[in-house]
Amino acid sequence: MSPLATIRTPLPVLQARGLVKRFGRVVAIDEADFDLMPGEVLAVIGDNGAGKTTMIKALVGAIEPDAGEIVMDGAPVHFRSPIEARSAGIETVYQNLALSPALSVAENMFLGRERRIPGWRGRFLRTLDRGGMRREARQRLSDLGILTVQNVDLPVEALSGGQRQGVAVARATAFGTRVVVMDEPTAALGVKESRRVLELILDVKARGMSIILISHNMPHVFEVADRIHIHRLGRRVAVIRPEDHEMSDAVAIMTGAMEPPKTDPIPFVRTDRPRQEGQTS
Ligand SMILES: Nc1ncnc2c1ncn2[C@@H]1O[C@H](COP(=O)(O)OP(=O)(O)O)[C@@H](O)[C@H]1O
Ligand SMILES: [Mg+2]
Repeated sequence: MSPLATIRTPLPVLQARGLVKRFGRVVAIDEADFDLMPGEVLAVIGDNGAGKTTMIKALVGAIEPDAGEIVMDGAPVHFRSPIEARSAGIETVYQNLALSPALSVAENMFLGRERRIPGWRGRFLRTLDRGGMRREARQRLSDLGILTVQNVDLPVEALSGGQRQGVAVARATAFGTRVVVMDEPTAALGVKESRRVLELILDVKARGMSIILISHNMPHVFEVADRIHIHRLGRRVAVIRPEDHEMSDAVAIMTGAMEPPKTDPIPFVRTDRPRQEGQTS
């Protein structure tokens, strides 16, 4: 029996302790802690400049923290790029969308995981399965119903902000297997598209994944979050449950107008065992 089997609370998916990131004299994250449990929607809220984006970038390997520890499934991880995080099952929708404007919608969906055609031509000539990728991209986007892109061959630069957001969300939810991170996913979307993204978050959760949702939209946060991580001046100051607090409390804690409530800390689990690929708990 693994030593972890004796722990009664579920093993957190992703944890961090004491994360620090400085940009010159600016301390963007200042000893931040983070806990993500399996199958939960964790909202991360905080004022502009609180360090939310920098923290998730450190978690997914988009930037290297100056200090701190990150573990996934109880094992230390050092993602050197978001591609490494992706191969561990973590997909990210960035606030400043990481799409390639000159490439088509379909190409963006499959960027970095292009499919080859079956048989020798795919294996030896590396021939891309463009038709298959185009069909799947079209299918995924229409299933999502969050955008009305008729033509997946259009370059992403021809899309509106909301449509681009839709492509990024579609890509993350289609390919994530453990964690989907969304940094302000509804900021550029209209009411109907935002609603679709919230449904999608709940779909992803129903598939057993965990979601990190950074958002300023308190009604959205209170509607879908299981727990709310409140970030202030570079660090986590509280974690609350939406059923225990009013939206106005969350905002007051976030701005420093209200003393953060005491919450039971989640134990930091770290083994020396390397993380196993495909591990699900
Ligand atoms: N690449 C960067 N270079 C310099 N300063 C940065 C950089 N990224 C973020 N910062 C600074 O770090 C702080 C936290 O930013 P950020 O993580 O984007 O906050 P949030 O997402 O909560 O709005 C801000 O003061 C911001 O200006
Ligand atoms: Mg941000």
